[in-house]
Amino acid sequence: MMQKQKICKSYEWLLKNISPTPSIALILGSGLGDFIDPTNVKQVFNYQDIPEFPVSTAPGHAGKLFHINLHGKNILVFSGRFHLYEGYSPFEVVYGVRVAGLMGVKTLILTNAAGALNPLFKAGELMLITDHINFSGENPLIGENWDDFGPRFPDMSQVYSQTLQELAEKVALDISLPLYKGIYIQIKGPSLETPAETRVFRLLGADAIGMSTVLEAIAAKHMGMNIVGISCLTNKNLPDCMSPTSEEEILNMARKTNKKLKLFLDNFIQNL
Ligand code: HPA
Repeated sequence: MMQKQKICKSYEWLLKNISPTPSIALILGSGLGDFIDPTNVKQVFNYQDIPEFPVSTAPGHAGKLFHINLHGKNILVFSGRFHLYEGYSPFEVVYGVRVAGLMGVKTLILTNAAGALNPLFKAGELMLITDHINFSGENPLIGENWDDFGPRFPDMSQVYSQTLQELAEKVALDISLPLYKGIYIQIKGPSLETPAETRVFRLLGADAIGMSTVLEAIAAKHMGMNIVGISCLTNKNLPDCMSPTSEEEILNMARKTNKKLKLFLDNFIQNL
C-alpha cells in the first residue's frame, strides 16, 4: 500500500471511531507517559489495533492513543512515539502527526526529554522550545509532495507559534513554574554525545538536545498546525564536566519532571 493510502486508512478508521473529533493533539516524550489521568479518558486505542498504524518499541513508550477530555477540550494524546534510532523511517516518525492533521487538529503540543546544553539551565526544569535545528540528517517531507497536505517548500521562519509561546510563558508565570526558553536540536541517536560533540552543538546555538520532536514539528508545520514544544531537561550535558549518563537516569528524571509538565499542561490546555 502507498504511504499516503496507509495514513488515510488510519485516519478514516479513527474518524469513524472517535467522536467528537479532537482539536488538540499532544505527543508525550520518553518517561512522560503518566500525564494521563484515567478520569479524563474517553477512549483508548492500542496502536496495533488502528489499521496501518506503526507500533512503538522504545522503553517508556506505551504505544497507545488516548482520546481525553480535559477542561471541556477533546484531545488526542499519543503515548508512544516513533524514533529514528529505533529504525523507523521519517514517514513512520511523523505518522501520528499526519493522522492528527487530517482529523482537523489545529494545535499540536510536542513534549520530550532532553539534555541541557545551556550551562545556565538546571536539570529537572522545563524549557519552552522557541526554534529548532534539524540535525537528524532526515526530513519527513522528502519524496513526492502531497499538495493537499501542504506546500512543497513549507516556510519554517516561525515553526513554534508566537501566540502559543506567549500563552505558555503567561501560564508558567501564573503558576510560578520556572520555564526556560531555548533552541532544541534533534540528533538521530541512539548514542549520547561525546564532549566534543556537545561542544559543537552548543556552538551551533542549541540550548537542549534530544532524539525527537523536530521531524514531527516539520510535518505539522507543513500541514499548517499551530505548534508548541516543551522539553523536560533530564540531564545536564556540558562538554567540560561530563559525567556518564544512563538511560535509567534520563527516564527517572523524566518521571520526576513529569509532575511539573503535568501541572504546566493542565493549565496551558485550560487556557487554550
Ligand atoms: N542527549 C541526547 N538526547 C537526550 C539527552 C542527551 O543528553 N537527554 C535526554 N535525551
